[in-house]
Amino acid sequence: MLNEKVVAGVTGGSAIRKMFEEGNRLRKIYGADKVYDFSLGNPDLEPPVEVKQAFAHYLQQPNIHKYMSNAGYEDVRQKVADYEGKRGGVKLEIPQVVMTVGAAGGLNVALKTLLNPGDEVIILSPYFVEYVYYIQNHGGVPVQVKTDENFQPDAAAIAAALTARTKAIILNTPNNPTGVIYTPEKLREVAEALAAGEKQYGSSIYVISDEPYAKLCYGEPVPSLFRFFRNGIIGNSFSKSLCLPGERIGYLAVNPAADDCAMLCGGLAFANRTLGFVNAPSLLQKVIGDCLEVSVDVEIYRQRRDLLYHLLTSLGMECVKPDGAFYLFPKVPGGDSAAFVAAAAKENILIVDGKGFGQPGYVRVAYCVETDMIHRSEGAWRKLMEEYRK
Ligand SMILES: Cc1ncc(COP(=O)(O)O)c(C=O)c1O
Repeated sequence: MLNEKVVAGVTGGSAIRKMFEEGNRLRKIYGADKVYDFSLGNPDLEPPVEVKQAFAHYLQQPNIHKYMSNAGYEDVRQKVADYEGKRGGVKLEIPQVVMTVGAAGGLNVALKTLLNPGDEVIILSPYFVEYVYYIQNHGGVPVQVKTDENFQPDAAAIAAALTARTKAIILNTPNNPTGVIYTPEKLREVAEALAAGEKQYGSSIYVISDEPYAKLCYGEPVPSLFRFFRNGIIGNSFSKSLCLPGERIGYLAVNPAADDCAMLCGGLAFANRTLGFVNAPSLLQKVIGDCLEVSVDVEIYRQRRDLLYHLLTSLGMECVKPDGAFYLFPKVPGGDSAAFVAAAAKENILIVDGKGFGQPGYVRVAYCVETDMIHRSEGAWRKLMEEYRK
């Protein structure tokens, strides 16, 4: 008998993956320009020129493809320490940075290091689909806590969910699937709730800040979560900000004031090795080390956000207007998100049911797609809403 949870995962399938396959099917029938695929968080833009130059440069360097310390190249970790230290207003050193295989690799490394079997990890719904699996990978128990009507963290609800077994909470701002950026006030309230919980239970509650969208903000930049959480672990990635999702590169940075910081950091390097990553891709470490301040042109995403937000709301959809990432998370008229996703597919519009993100009744619309596709999809959205209302 194979692993039961894996078998259940394969049988259940991924809603996003299903849409990916449905997109390929529809494109074969109707042609690529008649299918409006808003299902994937796979950036359509090319990496910035600085990234391409860094690739070209480092490819010419000797010894670029070798093993190195499990935590990554020291020169790169120093650059990350300087960058995150400045952002967070802390003195960060090389040992507090571990280079990872994307944010996904980093989250698994952090959770392996933190969790004993049965430890609880709070996730705020709607949440990135994979968190549940990542937590279960390491014997943890995901505890879902709802956000408020604007998808902001609800500190009272978080406080009510804390127990003696709460080991961590994962925060994700700007958020996938809502695009919402958590306000400093809400983050302060969460910090107070967690501090009270730590006091009550005599425990350490770590905050894993999952930040692949940190650079994709349309207004104020997201403040470093080190400014709010002493037990903060920042997980970053370059999949979205530098359009490098297939290259699998990211890092973890630990607040030097965190409880048990030295052992925690040693644990992250150990977990990086023993989960089989060994180390983050060597060439990519060097490339991103030179591009920490670089970002894709966020203005392009802002324009697309405006275009799609106005289109959907003008057709009567209710939607929180997000300030970052590249997703909208509108409410479905009538509340049946599965039926709405199916009706949308009939108009060749591919979107993802909010159910998989822990929030049925909503759908995720990813706008990391060509602007022209958004324009072309207008008629199909109009028809969908007219038909659906009938
Ligand atoms: C919120 C969130 N966390 C983590 C990831 C994984 O990112 P990476 O490609 O860096 O592993 C994604 C990717 O979509 C994401 O949206």
